[in-house]
Amino acid sequence: MYYKSLKPFPKDFFWGASSSAFQIEGAWNVDGKGMSVRDMMPIPEGIANIKVASDHYHRYKEDIKLLGEMGLKMYRFSIAWTRIIPDGTGEINPKGVEFYNNLIDECLKYNIQPLVTILHFDMPVSLEKNGGWKNPATMDAYVNYCKVLFENFGDRVKYWLTNNEYNLSVLFVAEQHFKDKNDAKGTFQGNHYCILAQAKAIALLHEMWPDAKIGPAPNIHYVYPASCKPEDIIAAQDFNAFRNWLALDLACKAEYNRVTWSILEKDNALPDVAEGDIEILERGKPDFLAFNYYETHTVEAYPEGKSIPQEKRPHVFKKEGYWYGVTNPNFEYTQFGWQIDEVGFRITLRALNERYGLPLIVTENGLGAYDRVESDGSVQDDYRIEYLYRHIHQMHIALDEGVNVFGYCPWSAIDLVSTHEGFNKRYGFIYVNRDEDGNHDYRRIPKKSFYWYRSLIKRNSEF
Ligand code: BG6
Repeated sequence: MYYKSLKPFPKDFFWGASSSAFQIEGAWNVDGKGMSVRDMMPIPEGIANIKVASDHYHRYKEDIKLLGEMGLKMYRFSIAWTRIIPDGTGEINPKGVEFYNNLIDECLKYNIQPLVTILHFDMPVSLEKNGGWKNPATMDAYVNYCKVLFENFGDRVKYWLTNNEYNLSVLFVAEQHFKDKNDAKGTFQGNHYCILAQAKAIALLHEMWPDAKIGPAPNIHYVYPASCKPEDIIAAQDFNAFRNWLALDLACKAEYNRVTWSILEKDNALPDVAEGDIEILERGKPDFLAFNYYETHTVEAYPEGKSIPQEKRPHVFKKEGYWYGVTNPNFEYTQFGWQIDEVGFRITLRALNERYGLPLIVTENGLGAYDRVESDGSVQDDYRIEYLYRHIHQMHIALDEGVNVFGYCPWSAIDLVSTHEGFNKRYGFIYVNRDEDGNHDYRRIPKKSFYWYRSLIKRNSEF
């Protein structure tokens, strides 16, 4: 059969795993760390906060040793800006620099290539208070922070990610229930500044460390039309443009996506593009494209003259006059209601490959589930193995079809706090023995998926 004779994965393929600082580290207020927006976020009753998280700050040696035992070739983690520069600008915190120096050295000790996310949802509060990305001063603060990182870690870190999933911020203005719904122009201005800052950081890294590589890490998944009705196909194209291509066209082609631009024009939401901005984007193009993938979306054309009620699931998006999200009947769902669509993963890989032609790396993909420790002390997460197997297999086919993908870092390396759903929604290869309230001993238990991934990495294939 065709799929049985797939080309092998390249010998130097980066089999990895991912995490982010605020979700794994804990130690939220120690050793001089400043406050990030995540530290201030209200947490619903009964949901874990990030104060201790997985206590990785104190247990990183044990954690990296385990990742070494799993055979990881790459570990994606983020640096907390507020550990390095507690107020976002100004004084550097030597303790923060020391922590990440140690973490990087520990990775290298086990031949694990560090893949460092510069910013993963945890902007310093002091900058957010002054408008966050909507304030152009944040660009300078970000570039200065990048410079500090490149100076301190650039001798050992050769792969960098600029900013996690910033492309999603622009979706919120199309929705009724998000706080930014009344400030569409501000949101797109913020998007413009953020991508401009990214280009400046890319150019800076290239200047300081010509052998290093850097790319953005958006959340990209293909949007399907609900039917073959031409209007539905236009709706899907519009949503693809808005959600996926806006940020990437700016970063990779140094131009605004025209479909999105025309939508913004009608909404009076066009960002101001200053003279020289496009040159900055031209000079700071990424070396590769990273992306996070969990599921796909399906949309229909928004019916003229009607108002569609907000769906219960918050990530089914709509934009009046253009598209609205519908349930696609072709999929199974996770325990948390996320659709499982491994073929959509391949479609997304192919679309990115065709559109931008850059090397690709997958920086998130994984299954959030209620794992349980059995009476013999093991965690039998066969469902996660099946999920990962199905996605890796589709990635393998994409690779065979000519897509240049050079790494796969599923979410997550070890259990950590979910962004919305606490600690009981677990993604890791390694179980962390704590409950939602932070009780128990934080012991690490390799899950069945840990051993499965280890043997896959050893064979360099899912077969
Ligand atoms: C990605 C984020 O969008 O999704 C991660 O980059 C996040 O930070 C992951 O944890 C899974 O989402 P959740 O809400 O299940 O934690």
